Amino acid sequence: MKFQKDSKIVMLTAYDTLFTKLFDGIVDMILVGDSLNMSFRGERDTLSASMEVMLYHTKAVCKGRKESFIIADMPFGTYRNREIALENATRFYSETCADAVKIEGGVEKADTISHLVQNGIAVMGHIGLTPQSSRGEGGYFVKGRDTESWEKVLKDAKAVENAGAFAIVVEGVKSELGKEIAETLSIPVIGIGAGKDVDGQVLVWSDMLGFFEDFKPKFVKRYLNGGELVREAVKRYADEVQNGIFPEEENRY
Ligand code: KIV
Repeated sequence: MKFQKDSKIVMLTAYDTLFTKLFDGIVDMILVGDSLNMSFRGERDTLSASMEVMLYHTKAVCKGRKESFIIADMPFGTYRNREIALENATRFYSETCADAVKIEGGVEKADTISHLVQNGIAVMGHIGLTPQSSRGEGGYFVKGRDTESWEKVLKDAKAVENAGAFAIVVEGVKSELGKEIAETLSIPVIGIGAGKDVDGQVLVWSDMLGFFEDFKPKFVKRYLNGGELVREAVKRYADEVQNGIFPEEENRY
């Protein structure tokens, strides 16, 4: 696998062709994240994203990609045992251009990860705060705040690496724990809310560009006020239509 720990890896989500074309080649990795279920489809969590939904969006992302490495999120329930996982992961490879799949979970998913890897599928792990567990856990909780939680996340990280994952996302952990995981593992550690001492960062595109405005987690930095810019442009358009300004001479046949 071409990704190493010697330079910072940039990863961003994308859900469609349009935005993939804008991100392609600038970011190293594009994640077709099941976060699309919330930000794009208005659901309250990621759990109802299906294989059909994720395949649909992965195919759209594939159409916009020339360079960046594409990772498809395996939806909740589609890797509940190793056979089901292999069947579904195979669909991402045979029906889309995805270069890898991502699976949430640590020790308990190690066997599944190793089964996929043995069958020729590149797997990215995802540990710490795992959104697909949020309903079962009763919310989104930062991990590593006490020794027990710290040790569990560290154990999960090692299990995912030993199972053969090529990289791992670590989400929502104390920065010091993010650092320890990055120092312990030999595979790249991509952080989201895991501090700066990891091997790369991932953000959800609609969060970092300010299009998703329902809430803003602490780890998100907004690089654009997308929502404001769009509303302002649409208001201008509405105003010009209502006042007979648009279409102007140059817009007419
Ligand atoms: O679904 C997603 O976008 C993710 C990132 C938050 C890592 O899993």
